[in-house]
Amino acid sequence: MKQETEEKLACSLTAETTDLLPFLPYLLQDLWELGSNPRDMIKLIKKHLPIAEETKILDLACGKGAVSIKIAESLNVNVYGFDLMEDFIAYAKQKAKQLQVDCLCHFACGDANEVVNAESNYDCVIFGAAGNILGGPLETLNKLIKTVKPKGYLIIDEAYLPDDLTNEEIKYKNYDYLTHQQWLCLFKDTGLQLVEELPNFEEYDFDADNKAIAARANELIAKCPEKREMFERYIQSQLNECDDLDNRIIAVTWLLQRR
Ligand SMILES: C[S@@+](CC[C@H](N)C(=O)[O-])C[C@H]1O[C@@H](n2cnc3c(N)ncnc32)[C@H](O)[C@@H]1O
Repeated sequence: MKQETEEKLACSLTAETTDLLPFLPYLLQDLWELGSNPRDMIKLIKKHLPIAEETKILDLACGKGAVSIKIAESLNVNVYGFDLMEDFIAYAKQKAKQLQVDCLCHFACGDANEVVNAESNYDCVIFGAAGNILGGPLETLNKLIKTVKPKGYLIIDEAYLPDDLTNEEIKYKNYDYLTHQQWLCLFKDTGLQLVEELPNFEEYDFDADNKAIAARANELIAKCPEKREMFERYIQSQLNECDDLDNRIIAVTWLLQRR
């Protein structure tokens, strides 16, 4: 895997170093949802997309498949999920089977940068909490657009910076947030129509996730004490990101339509 891809993979999972990559499946074993809000996505799809038997949804960087599986369960549509982490894909496949939607969920290991070139003609592409893995915001939008039909939809779970803050004031340092206005300009420049925006008001229990991650990190510290600092920094990095989400940045789900 290219160094840049590895670095972005680590960053997409709030890790400051690629040395953490082999430990991430262990650290995140108690979580299923890894960032985005499937309930808001389902609301947007139900309200705006003409769902038919042949509807196909692409879930890029699908993590452990929480979004794909919940969409398949509630909308009875085919979902194609790709992620770079083999353990996450194995988990997603097993979970789809357990919930009896394996006939609708098609999971495979793959680099989203290659998937966007190989896959096209979807009714909708989902890009949930995947940050800069496809490049900067403009490059990301252009790559996502290529995967859907004309008039097809993009669902993006992101967070933006309020107008009165700069990235220097954000605790989590590995990502440059845009303002809402900057995103709107990019949608316009790429010919995307903003159909609906759902601010994320859900009371998500970050605390439970953070406690679970800290407990796993402490188990790893007991096994490999020489890596204590790396695991402690991961716990802190998670706390910083959640603190930003609670107090500084604004999480949002956008439904956009290609012209
Ligand atoms: C924060 S998680 C979000 C997962 C999922 N979309 C969700 O919201 O639950 C980011 C995901 O991006 C995946 N990822 C990072 N780089 C990738 C790449 N180049 N290709 C595919 N997946 C990638 C990671 O493995 C991780 O599962």
